[in-house]
Amino acid sequence: MLLFKKVKELQAYLANQTAKGKTVGFVPTMGALHQGHLTLFQKCLTQSDVCVGSIFVNPTQFNDSTDLFKYPRTPGKDIEMLSGAGCHVLFMPPVEEVYPPGHATPDPLDFGYLDQPMEGAHRPGHFQGMAQVVRRLLDIVQPDTLFMGQKDYQQFAIVQEMLRQLEVRTKLVMCPIVREEDGLAMSSRNMLLSEEQRLLAPKIYQALQAARKMVHSHFSREIEQAALDRLREPGMEPEYFAIVDGITLRPVDLFEDVRLAVACTAVKVGAVRLIDNMILKEDS
Ligand code: PAJ
Repeated sequence: MLLFKKVKELQAYLANQTAKGKTVGFVPTMGALHQGHLTLFQKCLTQSDVCVGSIFVNPTQFNDSTDLFKYPRTPGKDIEMLSGAGCHVLFMPPVEEVYPPGHATPDPLDFGYLDQPMEGAHRPGHFQGMAQVVRRLLDIVQPDTLFMGQKDYQQFAIVQEMLRQLEVRTKLVMCPIVREEDGLAMSSRNMLLSEEQRLLAPKIYQALQAARKMVHSHFSREIEQAALDRLREPGMEPEYFAIVDGITLRPVDLFEDVRLAVACTAVKVGAVRLIDNMILKEDS
């Protein structure tokens, strides 16, 4: 695996590859990698000639500076995992390569309603920061295909909208959520949980599963309320549990009105904020 820290060196290498007709796939991450991330790399490897990953803890998408400070960093282990997985190129830039002093930042895009609810409401500025870095990384890597996880459903919807607005040729591929055996969605943040909190955390998955079972017999508001009640436990505090249209992210009133319904939730387990989601209904 080749490791690049400088934009110019990465670009020179990739220009050489694309000149030979090779396709480039890209997996952006913030590191502290787990099996969930690895499935994105595996998909990237099967669908592209050159698989490029990035590890960059993007400061502009953290609305809370302690969250940025606490964000787990395991660069040695990450490099080992990616090279073991067969990743071809890893880009690990320092902040000044991504945001060089004096580099003009493009005007923020307008995502309409997509960045307003859920994570958008609870983490002001988060999605503008995320979009800023993904745009910059896409500009650097110029991939044919971009691989992102369903785990961050709203993030995926916003990146899809960004690609549409910028009219870039990059294809976006959604990769399913990878879970631990007890259902907890894999996340870099899981390693911040205490033993006790780790035992509570699968309740998030259980609440999503219970919600899915209620779709045919209950209104969406009732399901949301039942899930919130279930998630309010000592040591745990749900921030939201929202059943939304999978395309517009607007609240679902009646399931029969939408083709794709997704339940999205954020729950604080102690001080650790976890997000998860599940597709409740999908018509072909
Ligand atoms: P990060 O949280 O490191 O996630 C990188 C990618 O891995 C995202 O596309 C995310 O959805 C996916 N992912 C995380 N956990 C997963 C799981 N359990 N199963 C499947 N996929 C999973 O998301 C970010 O970084 C950043 O916002 C980024 C896009 C890199 C911009 O900074």
